[in-house]
Amino acid sequence: MTDRCTWVTGAGSGMGRASAVRAGASGRRVALSGRRVPSLEETAKRIVDAGGPAPLVLPLDVRDPDALAEAHARVRAEFGTVEALVLSAGLNAPARTWADQSMSDFAAIVETNLTSVARAIDLTLPGMRNAGGGTIVIVSSISAWRLSPGAGVAYTASKRGLKALTETLNGQEGRNGVRATLLLPGDVDSEFLRLRPVQPDEDSRARMLSPDDVARAVQFVLDAPPGVTIDELVISPTGF
Ligand SMILES: NC(=O)c1ccc[n+]([C@@H]2O[C@H](COP(=O)([O-])OP(=O)(O)OC[C@H]3O[C@@H](n4cnc5c(N)ncnc54)[C@H](OP(=O)(O)O)[C@@H]3O)[C@@H](O)[C@H]2O)c1
Repeated sequence: MTDRCTWVTGAGSGMGRASAVRAGASGRRVALSGRRVPSLEETAKRIVDAGGPAPLVLPLDVRDPDALAEAHARVRAEFGTVEALVLSAGLNAPARTWADQSMSDFAAIVETNLTSVARAIDLTLPGMRNAGGGTIVIVSSISAWRLSPGAGVAYTASKRGLKALTETLNGQEGRNGVRATLLLPGDVDSEFLRLRPVQPDEDSRARMLSPDDVARAVQFVLDAPPGVTIDELVISPTGF
């Protein structure tokens, strides 16, 4: 199955990386985006080591519309139509309350978590429509499913906005074979935790989901028959 192309953002670490590795190991051609080149190259190496086809490394800042468009053009030129899009790039900030947040952080979080997601979808949709379908996995957060006061104002607003993107996609584009899944993970032991105001201890981290726990769910969505839409998936660590 090397004809299917999957584009992953946030592919240099955490659940983006784990999802890219699983997708690549299953035979998909994967394009990897994020800002840190060495991290993306490490993900690419893991895919090749797992027997997958050589991925395309496309470093970018998702907040840069031109860079996103250029990367999409590269994917199209080298791999053809993007059949699946996994949007895992995300941002939060330690100052998260109305009392301490900054509006520049607020804008960066919304731009990364919501606007860039809409832009990537907007770029890939025409190709998916022409191909008769495609799969879009949008990584939100359990804090968008039930309020988690510690998650932050901007983070919660941006991650809740992703529900609207998912629902409108399925409502408007389902007839074109395009399906979207809103993935809402609970705590995951990843680099993302460094953005918390207080770092969790080792015991807490050990009880969290692993990035690969989430990647298994992403793979389940990608592998679902084309006529099946998985609208939402909430995944939380047992006992939390
Ligand atoms: N960890 C959790 O507990 C948790 C729970 C629920 C949801 N989430 C969400 O899950 C997603 C993945 O997070 P993770 O836990 O796997 O953490 P992670 O390892 O920190 O992954 C986030 C990725 O986003 C990339 N990224 C951030 N800003 C970017 C930008 N402007 N342009 C391009 N790439 C950017 C980062 O790469 P570069 O820095 O190299 O760009 C990084 O690889 C995020 O959307 C996060 O909000 C996390």
